Amino acid sequence: MVEVLVTGGAGFIGSNFVHHALDAHPDWRVTTLDKLTYAGRRENLQDLDANSRHRFVHGDIADPAVAAPLVRAAEIVVHFAAETHVDRSLLSAGEFIRTDVHGTFVLLDAAREAPRLRCFVQISTDEVYGSVPEGASRETDELRPRNPYAASKAGADRLAYSYWASYRVPVVITRASNNYGPRQYPEKIVPLFITNAIDDQPLPLYGDGLNVRDWLHVDDHCRALDLLIARGRPGETYNIGGGNAVTNLELTRRILDRLDRPASLIRPVADRPGHDRRYSLDTAKLRALGWEPRTDFETGLSATVAWYANNESWWRPIRKDSEAYRAYYARQYTRPG
Ligand code: NAD
Ligand code: DAU
Repeated sequence: MVEVLVTGGAGFIGSNFVHHALDAHPDWRVTTLDKLTYAGRRENLQDLDANSRHRFVHGDIADPAVAAPLVRAAEIVVHFAAETHVDRSLLSAGEFIRTDVHGTFVLLDAAREAPRLRCFVQISTDEVYGSVPEGASRETDELRPRNPYAASKAGADRLAYSYWASYRVPVVITRASNNYGPRQYPEKIVPLFITNAIDDQPLPLYGDGLNVRDWLHVDDHCRALDLLIARGRPGETYNIGGGNAVTNLELTRRILDRLDRPASLIRPVADRPGHDRRYSLDTAKLRALGWEPRTDFETGLSATVAWYANNESWWRPIRKDSEAYRAYYARQYTRPG
């Protein structure tokens, strides 16, 4: 069996990847290491409890006593664990530095002494390039992160590269665009706006709503990671973009249309500080390996809206019962304009 360690596997992309990996690779045994922060949901992996090829370890990547032995036993590490929400990083950045930078260091340092390790995937993000007024970012472009989350990810991205350059840890770095799909915590724009619309609550659109994001279905992301584990070159970086660039306003309209809710639910609110205007990725390097996104955006968005409509038992407890969620929401959305 191939021993695979997935960090952050109880989160959105991580849980989709764990399911994908176990389905696609009958010879993989997957260990998920996750701290179960507010964004990590044990129930995202509950259906795997009876699967002898999956093991869940509750722990912190920044704790070497827990993380190092798991890394040292692995042949493949896929490192998703991170604090991931830009708005939270703007309110308080400490946990982003602790997990995204220091936690990544702990894993990489352990990877120096992992005798069977053949691939360490560092999940970075297109946010490390900063705002891209025109054209598309290539892997060789300068990094210009502009918010604390993006800067913490850029630090981890370059730290990972340094472990390849210095110690030949077989690091492959990926920079994906905005993901959408099932099981995304309802603070990011897609699940937040879908669940608000279902509840006939206002959709808080930042600024003029004309910022552009490029949407990648999480399944296409998982397939790209699978390919890069097999064929990515150590020390190299690969962009992963969906090729579905839309403004936030257009995205919001499409969500409202699908739920048959009126545009009057759109509530313009104070802009995000330092809000990156546009992200765009050149994905030629990944496509040259044979990958292309399969999920048509219209279809993928409809399926995602349907998933939230059909899985209220997943998100309603977060929104209704979680004091922390409501406190965050009140703090974030009652800022002065
Ligand atoms: P998420 O917030 O849904 O999940 C993060 C997971 O990491 C959670 O399960 C959480 O409990 C876990 N975690 C946090 N701190 C931890 C720690 N110290 N130790 C162990 N586990 C910890 O995030 P996501 O959206 O699934 O993102 C996963 C990765 O992909 C992140 O590295 C993120 O930067 C990157 N990424 C995300 C997107 C996107 O659109 N969501 C796009 C590009 C890259
Ligand atoms: O680009 C990849 C990144 O995508 C990942 O690295 C991050 O982990 C992930 O959170 C995401 O970051 P964004 O900041 O782009 O995602 P978010 O859903 O927070 O915001 C998307 C756009 O929607 C952005 O332009 C801000 C806007 N927005 C967001 C929220 C939460 C709103 O207008 N209103 C909102 O309430």
